[in-house]
Amino acid sequence: MAVHSPTSGPCRSIVVSKLVAPATRRSLENMSRRSGVDLFFSSTLSSAELTDRAAVAVVVPVPHAEDEVMEMVHRIRELAPTILLCGVIDVPDQSLWLFAERNGFNLVSSAGGIGAALSRRLAADDLGVREPIAVLNSSDIAGRLGLLGEFEVEGCSVALWRGGGRLGCLENRCTHSGAKLSEGEVEDGVVTCPRHGSRFDIVSGERVRGPADSDVKHFDVFEREGRVWIVPEP
Ligand code: FES
Repeated sequence: MAVHSPTSGPCRSIVVSKLVAPATRRSLENMSRRSGVDLFFSSTLSSAELTDRAAVAVVVPVPHAEDEVMEMVHRIRELAPTILLCGVIDVPDQSLWLFAERNGFNLVSSAGGIGAALSRRLAADDLGVREPIAVLNSSDIAGRLGLLGEFEVEGCSVALWRGGGRLGCLENRCTHSGAKLSEGEVEDGVVTCPRHGSRFDIVSGERVRGPADSDVKHFDVFEREGRVWIVPEP
């Protein structure tokens, strides 16, 4: 295993919480040996560790309670908005798994599968660091619900909403036959396509109801330093 301090040089690394289970550690160490990506085990997940340019991903155990999942996502995103946030589930709880995926974790895996899953994801992302784009001032949307705006993010038309207590950003195109989702209604964090009524979760893009038979592409979105940021696709 290549072990690297993220403060000592430009080599890219993955920051791993020391709280992960031994099976997670073994899986990541195997991946590190195969891919050459460095691991840095951290007990604090400090800002300096996470924001170092070398750190492309962070791996943490997924907390067992939903409010703690939200807290974890909020904390990591405040420190490192664009880092790939990976969670390991150590209990057979599918609803917790889905909750984590829909509420800010970029990748969720079992302990034994995290190495392979992360390896595939990093290969797909080409280890790229995605620079977020500021699209709005937080003060402009304070207290607003529903559609907050339509934007062009690196050639892709997207819509931004607030609903169900969350910010969500999706490609502004229904996967059924291309209607603009920004013209649909949002209720409890779900947008309804204005043309034939397909429904999608505004954060994950997951299809909730047809006739569309596939999800809509989603983009990470967050508020920081008084602005709203959208993270482009890798
Ligand atoms: S175009 Fe959206 S449901 Fe048909």
